[in-house]
Amino acid sequence: MQGFPRRDGVLYAEGVDADRLAHEVGTPAYVYSAGVVRDRYTRLTAALADAPHRVHYSLKANACRGILEVLRQAGSGVDVVSGGELFKALRAGFRGEDILFGGVGKQAHELREAIHAGVKLINVESEAELRMVSAIAEELGRPATVGLRINPEVDVKNAHAYIATGEKGHKFGIPIGDAEAVGRLALTLPHLTLAALDMHVGSQLHSFEAYRAGTERLVELSLRLRKAGAPIRYLDAGGGLPVPYDDESEPDLRAYGAIVTAAANTLGAELLVEPGRFFVAAAGVLLTRVLYRKASGAKQYLICDAGMTELLRPSHYDAFHRIEPVQPRAGRIVADVVGPVCETGDFLALDRELPDVGPGDLLAIHTTGAYGYVMSSHYNARPRVREVLVDGARWAVVTEREDYEDLVRLEAASPVWRNA
Ligand code: LLP
Repeated sequence: MQGFPRRDGVLYAEGVDADRLAHEVGTPAYVYSAGVVRDRYTRLTAALADAPHRVHYSLKANACRGILEVLRQAGSGVDVVSGGELFKALRAGFRGEDILFGGVGKQAHELREAIHAGVKLINVESEAELRMVSAIAEELGRPATVGLRINPEVDVKNAHAYIATGEKGHKFGIPIGDAEAVGRLALTLPHLTLAALDMHVGSQLHSFEAYRAGTERLVELSLRLRKAGAPIRYLDAGGGLPVPYDDESEPDLRAYGAIVTAAANTLGAELLVEPGRFFVAAAGVLLTRVLYRKASGAKQYLICDAGMTELLRPSHYDAFHRIEPVQPRAGRIVADVVGPVCETGDFLALDRELPDVGPGDLLAIHTTGAYGYVMSSHYNARPRVREVLVDGARWAVVTEREDYEDLVRLEAASPVWRNA
């Protein structure tokens, strides 16, 4: 499925002319293809067909209600990592049994909300958290089903240092050496059922060796804990499937599927997976208009109406996103594509070769459906932008643009001293 084809040279979002769309909704705007999301969901579930499985889309990648509806209708569950994400998932129609609740620093109120919602699993990341879940389950008089997120301490290749999570010494999960003891502790705590072991070893993983090594460790540990009496019935292999941002190839889903389904089948457990980026990255573009073009020293700058406030990945991870003009343009230039924010680190691309574009031209920043809008900020008092969903020839604004009032709505006009 080609979500953003060209017709007569002009970029489309499925059946909708991106230029006309930008005129209707303004820029910057995120535009998502429902068809791409559905297509990727179908392809991944086909690759997992050899084992009983459930996909739990990692909502942190893109928590837009419009996208959640598409995935829910396709049959997906969700993985959430905060009370806010849980709230969004429930509001989008996911039920407790569709939801995994993870995260390294869950607060007591978030655990209460998760137990109250009857989530399928709370993926616990430490012994202290396990005790807290038990105490809260007892207080609420409702049993909690937990998984243990294990740090399998495998070699995580190809991930940016900020998004590798499964190596020795990382803050995430229970170190593999401590895991059996924590599992045995879970068996002694009232109101808890230990039903799963879980891992998430990193994001944008081009080599699947970490999945193989990690799931092997999880299977072995699960078998030991089962012997001790734990009713382990799920193997949660986390997220992390990569997407091509430049000219890399798509991941070999069959190879991935073979590794994770074999592990689940060895254990005789249902496989759970939590991909985020894989479903939504290629389903999104950020449309931005060039405001100015200027030269400074040896550099050409294209100054756009979107920057690090809308898309943080280039400045935060040095991430590459393909950029194309929406209308065809002849000639080539090399330029830094930058935003309006008062930071030298505010860029979308550095020294990028592009068609010869100038002020007024519309650019599409590709592969921005994941970790785009969700990482946006109000820095420089910039309101958040619109999100648009396209499905075939139809389009809808699924998130409205913020206005200036939204920037001050929560502020007191002057301090109301509470202790005076
Ligand atoms: N499960 C857990 C426990 C996670 O921490 C994550 C992502 C996922 C699933 C989904 O991973 P994915 O399939 O999307 O790779 N902001 C970064 C990515 C951070 C990923 C954090 N955890 C970026 O823009 O590349």
